[in-house]
Amino acid sequence: MKTILISGGAGYLGTVLSQELLKNYKIVIFDQLYFPWIFRNRRKLKYSKNIKFIKKNITDIKITDFNGIDIVCDLNGISNDPSSELNSSHTWNVNYKSRLKFAQLAKKAGVKRFIFNSTCSVYGFNKNKVYEDGKKNPLSTYAKANYKAENKILKLKNNNFKVNALRNSTLFGFSNTMRLDLVINIFVYNLMRKKKIFIDGDGKQFRPFISVSDIVKIYKYIIKKNNLPSFVCNLVSFNNTITDVATKISKILKVDKELINFKNNLVDKRNYKVGSKIFRKYFGRNFKFASFSTEIKTLEKNMKKFKIKKNDQTIRMKFYKKKLL
Ligand SMILES: NC(=O)c1ccc[n+]([C@@H]2O[C@H](COP(=O)([O-])OP(=O)(O)OC[C@H]3O[C@@H](n4cnc5c(N)ncnc54)[C@H](O)[C@@H]3O)[C@@H](O)[C@H]2O)c1
Repeated sequence: MKTILISGGAGYLGTVLSQELLKNYKIVIFDQLYFPWIFRNRRKLKYSKNIKFIKKNITDIKITDFNGIDIVCDLNGISNDPSSELNSSHTWNVNYKSRLKFAQLAKKAGVKRFIFNSTCSVYGFNKNKVYEDGKKNPLSTYAKANYKAENKILKLKNNNFKVNALRNSTLFGFSNTMRLDLVINIFVYNLMRKKKIFIDGDGKQFRPFISVSDIVKIYKYIIKKNNLPSFVCNLVSFNNTITDVATKISKILKVDKELINFKNNLVDKRNYKVGSKIFRKYFGRNFKFASFSTEIKTLEKNMKKFKIKKNDQTIRMKFYKKKLL
């Protein structure tokens, strides 16, 4: 049975990915455990005997942490634009310097594949639809640090060390380590609790989206297939304006008197549509993205069931403000 180290594996995406991969692989979660749901619930997990934890800061990585590891999935670091500006030298240290060192040590230790979770934020503001080879315009420290890390890590690739850089769109969907600072998640939450949606700016800005369950499916495919080459790939299910997304969600959840409120404080200048020139080549013509309607209904159901609330565990900016300032 292969052993996979998931760096940042206790986070929003990592919590879902780790539980899914546990069914077929041994998992080592390398994480500072800022959001400790999966660690606290480790004994209740299905296949719990297959999971181990290394509670550590990525800045303290040692080559011995990769003992017995076949594949690394790196989902670590400060995970959004506003949090990255709280302490930009910390963001550069973690998201660029430490993630690069992490990959260098993984290669040295004999890891065979390194799947680097990057971001579509590298495209920032762009008028035309952007593809993998399109113009990069990273606006925040988050986007700049991730883009630089991605470039340097890709240069490490060779026949024995495959690198897959996945540029994720904005994620949505349920995780036991929930994030409510992601646009679709917070829209569903506010509709549930306040019957309102709050939009920053005029809502005409385009964004690319993908569900957590689609990303997990893509990771599973790469790992199972085993013979894919190194590549950089945009991961996008659909592009939409923020207002269109809000309207669709209101319809799915049958909110009669939805009230879309616009705030005129456009702090986020990102506006871009993303496509992929290579997705079908690697993931097949038949790859089916999850149904938006099903994902939204599941998200609502689980947020109710697990009594998800807005707090410093679900809003990264709140958490890192306490941690880093
Ligand atoms: N969520 C999205 O919409 C999205 C979109 C594009 C890219 N991404 C990228 O995907 C990855 C996962 O995103 P997420 O939403 O799960 O983020 P998250 O914030 O939920 O998870 C990040 C994890 O990294 C850990 N971590 C942070 N700093 C650390 C440090 N210094 N040392 C050790 N561990 C540390 C945290 O404890 C957390 O478990 C991130 O790299 C993020 O930048 C996310």
